This record gives sequence, structure tokens and C-alpha cells, in this order.
Amino acid sequence: RAAGDPAITELQPWMRSLGDGVDAHPYGMPSPFEAHVKRRNVEWLTADPVSSVNFTPIHELDGIITPNGLCFERHHSGIARVDPSLHRLMINGLVDREIVFTMDDLKRFPRYNRIHFLECAANSGMEWRGAQLNGCQFTHGMIHNVMYTGVMLRDVLAAAGVKPTGTWLLAEGADAAAMTRSIPMEKALDDCMIAFKMNGEALRPEQGYPVRLVVPGWEGNMWVKWLRRIEIGDQPWQHREETSKYTDLLPDGRARRFTYEMDAKSVITNPSPQAPLSHGKGPTVLTGIAWSGRGTIPRVDVTLDGGRNWHQARMDGPSLEKSMHRFYFDFDWDGRPLLLQSRAHDSTGYVQPTKDALRAIRGPDSIYHNNGIQTWHVDERGEAENVEVG
Ligand code: MTE
Ligand code: CO
Repeated sequence: RAAGDPAITELQPWMRSLGDGVDAHPYGMPSPFEAHVKRRNVEWLTADPVSSVNFTPIHELDGIITPNGLCFERHHSGIARVDPSLHRLMINGLVDREIVFTMDDLKRFPRYNRIHFLECAANSGMEWRGAQLNGCQFTHGMIHNVMYTGVMLRDVLAAAGVKPTGTWLLAEGADAAAMTRSIPMEKALDDCMIAFKMNGEALRPEQGYPVRLVVPGWEGNMWVKWLRRIEIGDQPWQHREETSKYTDLLPDGRARRFTYEMDAKSVITNPSPQAPLSHGKGPTVLTGIAWSGRGTIPRVDVTLDGGRNWHQARMDGPSLEKSMHRFYFDFDWDGRPLLLQSRAHDSTGYVQPTKDALRAIRGPDSIYHNNGIQTWHVDERGEAENVEVG
């Protein structure tokens, strides 16, 4: 800054008078200067905002935790406003004892804390046939990563006593959609949770207050919100969300079904179309997020030239199972155009594929489970655009 910068030499308004007292904001909100940091929807995607989705502003966030007020929302019939004193969770079907729990009953099981990402299977679905939406909020923002507090589903099921023939369960929500999904018992007994807190405070209504199912690493649709019933059975129920929706139509007319695990994926969040490089050439911080439904992300590669040369990014922050990871690549920008991509490696050895490699196997008609490599073109001014390289 030149000498005489008024930001230094002049007294600013916030130094001339006293600020608000401690009682002005009993529940704190972000600075008004951050008002642009918000969930956004894409109006033409859905007929109305009730059965719809909005997107996490991942280009405005850092680290690995998504703040509660910015977690994307996906509702099939809007947000259920559930009174916790009237909320019940029923366990029925192939059990020794059918049980109805109140919220207080649930809170008497041993409590656990786990950080996990939730990704909608439709995240990046609009990009299947080519670059479409200009911003990682829209191409990759159907994800959030939150610390859940809750009880293990296996402990709750043990209280009801699952019969040996009980190999599947059906989770049902208390919203007007009564959203239902079949879940294999093996997963239920492994790491599923019934959560009532997110990032330390009560779940937000949008996220399923007072209770939601947490199904680590598996597609978001299975994480039933406003959870009211779990039925134990001996086969999947073949509901709408696992037949006509959340399945992948293959070129030969068959469909991939029960594709639960979210494959390893990554995206550069800065720079990106909503977050251009505004500082010109010189030291530049590139950053992004990576995750895998099968484990951790030990490594992310970054290219500045559309895949000709790859560099290993620097991972920073906690590396947890089925959780978001943060990567950085610090470089000196020479001011020339860039073709940015990131490529995640997960702890099973799986490497994130190109979009072309995915389409070669899955054909042109898929929507869900697009974990292909994303490309941003950055021009000399630092403006970024969603493109594909052939
Ligand atoms: N649960 C109920 N009861 N109703 C719903 O509409 N949407 C599902 C899932 N659980 C849904 C639900 C879908 S498709 C996704 S991707 C996640 O919730 C979204 O969770 P979020 O709103 O916390 O982001
Ligand atoms: Co979804």
C-alpha cells in the first residue's frame, strides 16, 4: 500500500463509537460483510423449492467442517417442523421386542462423536454430459461435513433384539414424503448412527431435527432425516428411492442399483468460477476438498496444465475415515492461463477417474455417482470457467 493509505491514517467509524453489548445477539450471526456466503439453488433444476435442493458455498469455506447454517439441503417434501416432545422412533418387524423410543429414551444410550461427509448421489449429476454450471457451489456443493453426536444404531437395534432372519432394515422419515430407504444389516451394525447433534448443537430443522440417520460414506439419500421408524426385514423393500431414483441407467438398458458407497472425489474450490484470482501473478494459494466413502484420502494430485504435469498437493487438517479432507497447492502464478484439475487417491488405492473414463463404462444416460475429475480454465485476468479437456 502507498504511504498515506486512509485505512491506516484515518480513524474508521468502528473506532469512533462503542459497539453492541453482549446481549445484542444471543444467537450469533456472521459479519454483514459475509452476507454473500450463503446456500444457493438453481431455479430451473426443480419445479418448485419444496421438492428441491440448494448448494453449500464450498468456495467460501476452508478447513473441513461445514458450518450448520451453510449445509446444503435436499428435501423431497419440504422441511418437517417436528416437535421433539411428540417425536417417536419405532423399531418393528423381525425383532424380539417392538419398541417405541422417545427422544429422552434415545439419549440414554452411550453417545459417540464422528465427523463424516454427506454427499447426495446427484452431486455433479448435471455435469455428466459436459461442463454445465459455472461454480463449484453448483457442480460439487451437494456435500457437507459435520461432527455428529448420537448413538450407535447397533446399540438401539440390540435393545429390540434383531431376529436371525433380519438381514435388512427400512428407515422411514417423519416428513410428508415419509422418505424410505432399505439398508443392509451389515452396514447398520457397522458404523451407522442415530444423530441428534451436529457440530455440537441440536440438528437444524433442515438437517432432520430432532434425529437423523447417519450412514457414513454412503449416498446422502439413505441418511433419513426426521427418522421415525426402522423396520427389520429379510430383503430390500424396492421403494421409489432405490428403483426409479438413485439408480444408474447403463448403455445396454440395465441399471446399476444399490450403489451405496460414494467413490473418491475431489474438486478445487479456489480458484474457481465464483472465486477468481483477483491478485494477479505471484504467490497463489490453490485449495480444495477431497473425500471417499471407503476410507481416508492420503493423497491428492493437482495439475495446472490440463493433466500434462501433475504435482502432489499438501494435505492439511484432520484425516478421518469417510470425512472431508483439505488440500493446498502453493505456487507462483506466472499470469498465463491455467487448466486446473485435482485427482484424489483414497486409502484403498482407488484413484479418481476422468469424466471420459467414467462415461466409457457408464454410457451417456447416468445422473448419479459422477466422481469424474473437474476442470477449471483460468484466464490471464484470473477469471475461471467450467470446462472439459478432451
Ligand atoms: N430424509 C427425509 N426424511 N426426507 C428427504 O427428503 N432427502 C435425502 C436425505 N434424507 C431426504 C432425507 C437426500 S436425497 C439427501 S442428499 C440428504 O437427506 C440431504 O441431507 P441434508 O438436507 O442434510 O443435506
Ligand atoms: Co440426495
